[in-house]
Amino acid sequence: MSLRDQVDINKLPKHIAIIMDGNGRWAKEKGKLRVFGHQQGVLALRDVVEGAVEIGVPYLTVYAFSTENWNRPKVEIIALMELLVATINKETKILIENGVRLNAIGDLKQLPSKCIKQLEEAIKKTANNTRCTLTLALSYSSRWEITEAAKKIAADVKAGQLNMEDIDEKLFSSYLTTADIPDPELMIRTSGEYRISNYLLWQLAYAELYFTSKLWPNFRREDLFAAIIDYQKRERRFGMTSEQLN
Ligand code: FPP
Repeated sequence: MSLRDQVDINKLPKHIAIIMDGNGRWAKEKGKLRVFGHQQGVLALRDVVEGAVEIGVPYLTVYAFSTENWNRPKVEIIALMELLVATINKETKILIENGVRLNAIGDLKQLPSKCIKQLEEAIKKTANNTRCTLTLALSYSSRWEITEAAKKIAADVKAGQLNMEDIDEKLFSSYLTTADIPDPELMIRTSGEYRISNYLLWQLAYAELYFTSKLWPNFRREDLFAAIIDYQKRERRFGMTSEQLN
């Protein structure tokens, strides 16, 4: 039986978050520049998005550029931004054909204006698609996001628009960049690293974590299906006992 057939489509995670790691190492193994790894990473992303749509995963969020990535060599940052613009330009049509709505989270104003424009256009063009929401985390970090949410809440309390007593987990979530998206139920990280790296720290509170040694450019939809099958074998207890769940 193929991996695709082993996925129980009645028990799919609603939201899968991915840390696409290992592009640089993949390129190095091949004696190529790091940017070549990122280019191949785009092919992996396309296949994974199509795989998610194929089986019916409604939300997919990928870490495309972290706040910390601004510290990379300038030449790599420029290459990544150019790749982002070219990819969005090229892939928007494919996203529309697949019914994918594009979304972006992060400190987007830090991106080059060309990127922001391209992103805004693609988000607008795909706004009515309903099969899957693909969120790109760009210039994103959780600590930035949580700090921003705290600032906005404080400002609303100060302005008399919010009572301090009304601040609870639900309200806090509504101030995050993911306010309209359910929390991820599965988080996948490639390349054999066992870290969260400042990614969706609040939202991953109850997510199942899946780590694979595969480098991101080698990751394909079958690997996504394997991660989902693994997730479906797990017992999610949310702090309760097995007996309570049964
Ligand atoms: C991590 O690999 C990957 C990134 C920092 C960028 C991710 C980008 C892509 C997959 C392609 C671009 C995406 C879009 C949406 C256009 P790394 O460079 O940290 O690899 P390493 O750990 O092996 O050095």
